[in-house]
Formats: sequence, structure tokens, C-alpha cells
Amino acid sequence: MSQPVRQQWVIGNWKLNPSFIDAKKLFTSIQAQLADRTDACQVAIAPPAPYLGLLVEQAEQLAIAAQDVSFVSGFGAFTGEVSAHLLQNMAVNLVIIGHSERRELFGDDVKMLQSKILQARAANLKIIYCVGESLAQRESGQAESVVMQQLDDLKQVLSAEDWAHIIIAYEPIWAIGTGKTASPEDAQHMHATIRQYLTQHTDCAEQLSLLYGGSVKAENAVQLAACKDIDGALVGGASLDATSFMAIINAFSQSND
Ligand code: 13P
Repeated sequence: MSQPVRQQWVIGNWKLNPSFIDAKKLFTSIQAQLADRTDACQVAIAPPAPYLGLLVEQAEQLAIAAQDVSFVSGFGAFTGEVSAHLLQNMAVNLVIIGHSERRELFGDDVKMLQSKILQARAANLKIIYCVGESLAQRESGQAESVVMQQLDDLKQVLSAEDWAHIIIAYEPIWAIGTGKTASPEDAQHMHATIRQYLTQHTDCAEQLSLLYGGSVKAENAVQLAACKDIDGALVGGASLDATSFMAIINAFSQSND
């Protein structure tokens, strides 16, 4: 039986990095290495918000994503905010919502995340929705129930049609920035559980891309890419080095050949 064709994605989440000068150099280097390639895999960069305008104008072979979005709508007297409509207006069509750093450090609770999801969909943005358990939750056997609850939070505010515009990123919190990656078996197991949830609750489960995030690097990308339900990577640290990032892109492009 042939495998369903799902879009493979490698997305670099630069977080609060690097300096503006280094960001321009890194972006130029990644673009140059992607030039004239026909990768099976889609590539996106999520830079710090102030860099979005410049990078979206320069982007050719890759997409530009926002790392977060406001819960307020449209334009107006909202000092410091970046709305989904503003992103749409500048042709930034992808946004990360629910990253564990937003949940843990900036108080993005379920209600806030649901408001952001609604705003993003109202502006027709594609959402990279992050889920993942803490070490304590994994050690107490709660990893799956935590992730399923996070998917329920998403489901509550989506219409049936919205699901086609969702990418799920499974990022176990204990693997982020720690150098500890989930084993390919554990990552695949959680991805299969997520896929099963999507099969039960959507009519496009086989088309949805499920990305793994958490210390993805050149050294482990091939093994992760070989897993049946892992359709790409959300990459932090390794996306700040063009050579490492390209190696991850190669791993996921080849897995889809
Ligand atoms: P690292 O790849 O640095 O572990 O970060 C993962 C992440 O949080 C991507 O969103």
C-alpha cells in the first residue's frame, strides 16, 4: 500500500536570537544553499518579530513564520502587540502558537492560547501548534494525557475546515535546549498517538504534518525522519547554524523521496 503524501516541514525557530547583523548573514546563507533546489521538504524560519518585515521581503525558497501572535484583533491602540491581521497584511502566513516557552514563561494559559488560535484562523494564518509534556509528567506516566488535553484545547476552538491549516509540533519540554532528544521510538509512539487522536476528531488526519521538536540536530535528524509519523522538525538551536540546519533539511527531504 502506498504511503499517504504529507508535506514535510523543517522550521527553524530562532527564538530571541541572533543579533540583527548575524540574522541577515544566516538568512542569506540558508537562502543561498536552498537556491535552485527542488526539495521535497518545505522550509520556514521563525525569526524574532522585528526581523519579520525584512526577511519576508527577501524570502524566496522558504516561508517566514511568526513566533507568536496577539490575542487582539486588527489594528489600533494596542501598544506593543502584533496582531494576526498585521501578519497577514505583511504576507507572514504562518504562526507558532503554544510553544512551551510562551506557556511557561509568559503565562499563555489555555484561554489565551485559544484566543490566539481564533485570531490566527480569522486572518487565515496556518498555525504551528505546539504540544508536549514536562519531565515530571512523563515520569509519572502522564505524557499522553497531557498532550491529548492540549489537542482538546485546540479542537474546542477549531471548525472542521480549520484543521487543514494546522501543523502539530510535538516538543517534549525536557528535550528542548537540553541536548536530550526523545528516542525515535518514543517520538514515533507519541506521534502515532497524536495521529490517532486526529483520525478520531478530523477528516484529514493522514494529510496533517506532525513535527518533532527538542534538540533536533544533524546527528539525529535522519533517524527521526525515518519514523512513519514524523513529518518534519521544529528546530531551535541547530537552526542558528546554516550547515546544521541544511543537514536537517536534507534528512527530511530524503525521507520523502
Ligand atoms: P532546541 O532545538 O534548541 O531544543 O529547541 C526546540 C524548540 O523549542 C523549537 O521550537
